[in-house]
Amino acid sequence: MQTVTLTPDLYQPTPPEKCDYKIGVLGCGGIVRGAHLPAYRNFGYHVVAACDLVEDNVKDAQARFAIPAITTHVEELLANEAIQIIDLAVHANQRLPLVERICETRPRNLLGILSQKPFAMKWGDAEKMVELCERAGLVLMVNQQARWAPAHRALKVLIEQGVLGHVYCVTHFHRSFQDVPGSWFVALENFNLIDHGIHYIDLLRHYTGLNPLRVKATATMVPGQAAVSPMCHTLLCEFDPQKHVMGLSHFNNIVQTSALHQYEWYIDGTEGSACASRNEVIISLKSYPQHKQVFQIQGSWFPDAFGGSMGELMRALNENRQPMTSGRDNLNSIRIAYAAVESVETGKAVDLSG
Ligand SMILES: NC(=O)c1ccc[n+]([C@@H]2O[C@H](COP(=O)([O-])OP(=O)(O)OC[C@H]3O[C@@H](n4cnc5c(N)ncnc54)[C@H](O)[C@@H]3O)[C@@H](O)[C@H]2O)c1
Repeated sequence: MQTVTLTPDLYQPTPPEKCDYKIGVLGCGGIVRGAHLPAYRNFGYHVVAACDLVEDNVKDAQARFAIPAITTHVEELLANEAIQIIDLAVHANQRLPLVERICETRPRNLLGILSQKPFAMKWGDAEKMVELCERAGLVLMVNQQARWAPAHRALKVLIEQGVLGHVYCVTHFHRSFQDVPGSWFVALENFNLIDHGIHYIDLLRHYTGLNPLRVKATATMVPGQAAVSPMCHTLLCEFDPQKHVMGLSHFNNIVQTSALHQYEWYIDGTEGSACASRNEVIISLKSYPQHKQVFQIQGSWFPDAFGGSMGELMRALNENRQPMTSGRDNLNSIRIAYAAVESVETGKAVDLSG
């Protein structure tokens, strides 16, 4: 009987050998204090400075993570010549002016920027940021850290090992609740598709290894919801027919009963199928179809994956190459998200083959 090996060393994110880059954090909101900084501490990364317009936020980051220098002035952060990586974690619609400023100032030792997702809310902003960084000679990576979440990474390892054969269907099935009155998510237009949903769109690309040629999405508002845009959608990706693969993401982020929340990925291949939740991966192979191998996954998306994505940027710098989720690569992911919004609005499939 064929069995599959899936040990933690194959899927857990680890720091690169050279990881002493000096990090300056720009924006110290919820995700930075809740995930970036805890991961960087666990991975042994060096945060030398932090900036936030809100003094309480940057002071809290300093107090909890012993950051040597803090400021509420962006210019002061950019004048810090020690900084080699800027961890840019403001909201998407606040990013372009900051990237412009970073590229104009071009701090002397700066090598790269890790931008939180979603990279941009407008296509023109995204293209401009990629071009500005390329012109300034800065490596730009988008923090699609879901790719480094242990369970997600385990699925990618199985695909890379070839144990599932030809992958013909990638399915994401997610039931959750973020319709929280007063939160920034409910005020952001198309939050579910463009902001949170970009993780699953990016993973569909990661698992299929392809960009779709056509996208169709449908979504619904829910009576009484707080969010300005639909929090429940289904997205279908059609690829080159010669590649024999399809992708689907169903994301219902307004399920009122937490007892029926769920998070799953299915990867179906000609030789077997795999299913992942956040902390378990199940594999069944065609050669022994009634048998399942169940793996409890070590580690978690929050915060481990954030050490993985920053580690990828450092590895890219060490190896003088572009990171896996570079700004230019990410144009392909946000293009799908924008097409999905257009499809919801028009009721038509959107062609991305051009
Ligand atoms: N898993 C994930 O990758 C994940 C999870 C949550 C949020 N995010 C993303 O991270 C980003 C931030 O989300 P958040 O929840 O931390 O939001 P937040 O509102 O808690 O934090 C944003 C911070 O940026 C600061 N800021 C805004 N403009 C600034 C400027 N010009 N200079 C310095 N600081 C400035 C604000 O004061 C605030 O502290 C969003 O793009 C969001 O989508 C990603």
